[in-house]
Amino acid sequence: MAQSKEVVAEPRLFACARVATAVLTHFLGIILTGFVAFLARPGTSWFSWHPFLMTLAFSFFMTEAILLFSPHGSPIKRFSHKVKGRVHWILQCACVTCATLGLVSIFYNKHLLGKSHFTSWHGVLGLITVCVAAVQSLSAVPLIYHSLAKGWSLAKLKRYHAASGLVTYLLGSVSLLLGLTSVWFTASVSEFTWYLAALCPTFSALIMMNQVTSAYVARKRFQS
Ligand code: HEM
Repeated sequence: MAQSKEVVAEPRLFACARVATAVLTHFLGIILTGFVAFLARPGTSWFSWHPFLMTLAFSFFMTEAILLFSPHGSPIKRFSHKVKGRVHWILQCACVTCATLGLVSIFYNKHLLGKSHFTSWHGVLGLITVCVAAVQSLSAVPLIYHSLAKGWSLAKLKRYHAASGLVTYLLGSVSLLLGLTSVWFTASVSEFTWYLAALCPTFSALIMMNQVTSAYVARKRFQS
């Protein structure tokens, strides 16, 4: 006998909570970027570009690039998946460009001051993060030109891209958090403000983990 498929509607409260957390994630990314820009005043020194460009790259561009696939909080929810893919690609290019410029600015600043490079956990993990973000973007090219990845199904490529993208986002979040523990930032803010700032990448990372893993688990269940 054919089994009937029962569609269970999600309780309204849960649906509202999902939308609210997605909206909050947008706001936190923008607020942290604006706050760091306010403190760093980009353009006043070589150093000033570093916190600003890195926060812009990871807290704003990368967050928006992933959130636009969110079924609850995408600002372009009604557009086709192809359009979302193109916008995602543009935002990721902006992220890698800002991250590279942010890396160049801190590297050059330390060079001018005669300081040695990559001596802190933040510096080492930050370097790894920028390299991983660049590789992640390059490895996404076969998603557009599928003929470049012979023997790989598009579904498999997408799954690997989503998983490695999440790892890149988490690396970015930890690098941001370590940046917030720097002497420059801790000396610029009160203890309460520091905790609020640290909450932004932490909360966003949890939301991204939930978004990516839910999409993957849901698809797996559908396929089985
Ligand atoms: C994901 C974002 C970030 C990445 C990938 C990153 C990457 C890096 C790298 C690679 C260095 C070492 C450069 C060298 O030694 O030549 C560095 C240094 C530094 N960063 Fe960041 N950064 C990020 C965010 C931030 C933020 C948000 C702040 C401040 C709020 C910050 C503050 C600093 C400071 C003060 C230094 C110099 C001290 C040190 O070398 O540890 N960074 N960053």
